[in-house]
Amino acid sequence: MIKLDARLKMAAEEVRPGKRIADIGTDHAYLPAFLIENNICPSAIAADIGKGPLENARKITSTSKDLSDRIELRLSDGLKEIKEDEVDDIVIAGMGGILIAEILTAAPWVKDENKRLILQPMSHAEDVRKYLCENGFEIIKEKACTDGRHNYIIIVAEFRNKENDKDEAFYYKGLIQYDESEDAQKYHNARMASLIKKRDALKKAGQNVEDIEKIING
Ligand SMILES: C[S@@+](CC[C@H](N)C(=O)[O-])C[C@H]1O[C@@H](n2cnc3c(N)ncnc32)[C@H](O)[C@@H]1O
Repeated sequence: MIKLDARLKMAAEEVRPGKRIADIGTDHAYLPAFLIENNICPSAIAADIGKGPLENARKITSTSKDLSDRIELRLSDGLKEIKEDEVDDIVIAGMGGILIAEILTAAPWVKDENKRLILQPMSHAEDVRKYLCENGFEIIKEKACTDGRHNYIIIVAEFRNKENDKDEAFYYKGLIQYDESEDAQKYHNARMASLIKKRDALKKAGQNVEDIEKIING
């Protein structure tokens, strides 16, 4: 049986039972394998841009007939080889936020009220939130977790064709409330430290720091 680490477990918990998933950038296909083994999903597409990662995935799915029957491995740059009517929930985990936003931008069909995005940016979460808010999605949940020395977040979003009423400060801070958990505090502290570092570098370069100060103090 597949055991997920805290980061992937947090993503798995947001997949809606009974829904078909696509795991983009799957590598070992741990997440789809876990969802199938635990009967959370009827089927999954485990997609990756690399043949090597898909071979890693094959080693996992070939350990049982159920996994190999219900998980399809697919070579795909982002969502390019995934068809709109094949999936309900889309997981993109373990990539930078800029790449996640690019993958979503290249697949306008994700703007569908029946689909759910479960996104786990390793960096630049602000780019993911900005994409979501500017493209009519509602961020319905964010969660933080810590595994060893690392702090992770996930962002869960659904398309609502909503106007964007969020600002830069929201893109940086998101829905996670400082006092909701120890992991949330760690996330906020790390974000604040990186914003302060960015502000100091801008200041040193003689650039305007008014906007970034607003985010830090907002
Ligand atoms: C760090 S691994 C993350 C694996 C797994 N999703 C996780 O969170 O543990 C990143 C994976 O994303 C894949 N990847 C990078 N760019 C991609 C793209 N544009 N489309 C699909 N997969 C991509 C890489 O080949 C790699 O297997």
